[in-house]
Amino acid sequence: PETSSRPLALLQWYDRHRRRLPWRAAPGEASDPYRVWLSEIMLQQTTVKAVGPYFEKFVARWPDVTALGRASQDDVLRMWAGLGYYSRARNLHACAVAVTREHCGVFPDTEEGLRALPGIGPYTAAAIAAIAFDRRTMPIDGNIERVVSRLFAVEEELPQAKPLIQQLAATLLAESRAGDSAQALMDLGASICTPKKPACPLCPFTEDCTARAQGTQETFPRKVPK
Ligand code: ADE
Repeated sequence: PETSSRPLALLQWYDRHRRRLPWRAAPGEASDPYRVWLSEIMLQQTTVKAVGPYFEKFVARWPDVTALGRASQDDVLRMWAGLGYYSRARNLHACAVAVTREHCGVFPDTEEGLRALPGIGPYTAAAIAAIAFDRRTMPIDGNIERVVSRLFAVEEELPQAKPLIQQLAATLLAESRAGDSAQALMDLGASICTPKKPACPLCPFTEDCTARAQGTQETFPRKVPK
């Protein structure tokens, strides 16, 4: 199909098969930037499965960013215990304090504004901007790199291929619903377009995937040998 049908095919798949995750808004409901931010920080080096209970504990105790901003760093670190990478917890608290005091408790709604906050790098800024504010930007994680490099049979190797993958991934963004487009690719990479034995018949791009047409799915993404 022509390029322009891909974003819609992706969203239609997502509307049927999206994972129910605690930080995701119900279909049609506005997403809460606080919950999106908290989940993205927790997911930086931790699996979806391990994050779930911690996310629930945090939002039960601190329901919004100003509540977290008023907490002590020690309480936040104690609640974080077990998730690892404790600099994330210190930055999480520092970020909540900054949003509370410097932004009147309202998260900035641009990538640039988000990147200026503690603990938010380029990936996390793009993820929050897309998922919480529907900014048309695609956060590129390992799952999305795999899906995109297969769909377009990107021969260039990682990490050099990152700018090309970013550019190709942007063609999959719907006009609206950028956040759902990004989360759809994350889910596709996690559940269908897996590193080994991808379930291609279930993929919305199955007739459209260059790697599948070649039978070379598992050889993407190409990587510089370690
Ligand atoms: N990994 C990082 N962010 C995610 C999200 N919003 N949904 C699923 N997996 C993720």
